[in-house]
Amino acid sequence: MSTGRRTIAVIGAGNVGATCAFSLAERKLGNIVMLDIFEGFAKGKALDMSQAAQILNYDGIVRGTSSYEDIEGAEVVVVTSGFPRKPGMTREDLISKNASIINEVGAGIKKYAPDSVVIVVTNPLDLMTYHMWKATGFPHHRVVGQAGILDSARMTHFVADALGVSNEDVHAMVLGGHGDTMVPLPRYTTVSGIPITQLLDSETIEQIGIRTAGGGGEIVKLLERGSAFYAPGNAAAIMAESILEDRRRLLPCSAYLTGQYGLEDVYIGVPVVLGRNGVENIVELDLEESELASLQKSGSFYKSQLSDVLGWG
Ligand code: NAI
Ligand code: 2OP
Repeated sequence: MSTGRRTIAVIGAGNVGATCAFSLAERKLGNIVMLDIFEGFAKGKALDMSQAAQILNYDGIVRGTSSYEDIEGAEVVVVTSGFPRKPGMTREDLISKNASIINEVGAGIKKYAPDSVVIVVTNPLDLMTYHMWKATGFPHHRVVGQAGILDSARMTHFVADALGVSNEDVHAMVLGGHGDTMVPLPRYTTVSGIPITQLLDSETIEQIGIRTAGGGGEIVKLLERGSAFYAPGNAAAIMAESILEDRRRLLPCSAYLTGQYGLEDVYIGVPVVLGRNGVENIVELDLEESELASLQKSGSFYKSQLSDVLGWG
């Protein structure tokens, strides 16, 4: 059945992809195509979601496929295909396997959804986002990575927990790469406008930063198979929503830098305005020397990985 609704593609129907697709359906953003190398996996999950449509009051179509033709005309493509971490692995251990998946997926997107905005979720996030930018050849504002929303949401939760306040009133800001070098920013983390530096002691804030940076690993260890997916899948969905609806939300995302924060030719987590064109604007915060040094250290780490491991730059 053809409809006037727009198409959103989700590549990879695993834990993160399926969670994202379901969140997109709950938000009633359009028809959804889930593509996975295992066709039955994508089709089975799509059928399950379609059978939830009445319960969700959702009129769109959810389709599963393994053919790129089916993503034709997608306005946003969320890429979650790839291997997740196992206990003891860093995100960087996934580089070579996931880079070849990104090459294949990027070629499919370039051919069938040439005007789309691509949201990359596959790890190691900042490297795979750069790799996707190269694989598609899209302008860099149309390729963006999801990590900062997740990392900030984790910090938000830990702050709310420490203060015994609602998660809703906490806004955290975590920049830098999605890995050990991420940069939690307590000065820009607020509870109803009050910086947490006025509400929590420095030791508690430091512990929250450490737990945030290790947040993914904490879940990998508990799950023993696979990694987090509820928060990551929903984080990617709110990025898709901000782009499709041109909401222009200001969110921390992995974006291509051209000199901002003293960094260039690297994807790294920074505050961006997300709208119909993808990254509409990169916001440059007034950082203290030590904060800027941490962000630059993170950027330099990923820049060296891009050249040493992926052969870019
Ligand atoms: P998963 O294993 O549940 O799902 C991955 C899916 O990708 C599988 O269904 C698999 O069949 C599919 N796939 C593999 N190769 C493919 C190909 N060439 N074409 C199409 N589909 C292919 O893994 P999960 O938990 O969904 O994680 C997916 C990725 O997202 C991992 O790389 C993980 O590390 C990353 N991740 C990133 C986060 C972030 O904040 N950026 C957070 C959580 C996960
Ligand atoms: C996470 O942070 C593994 O990147 C994934 O949960």
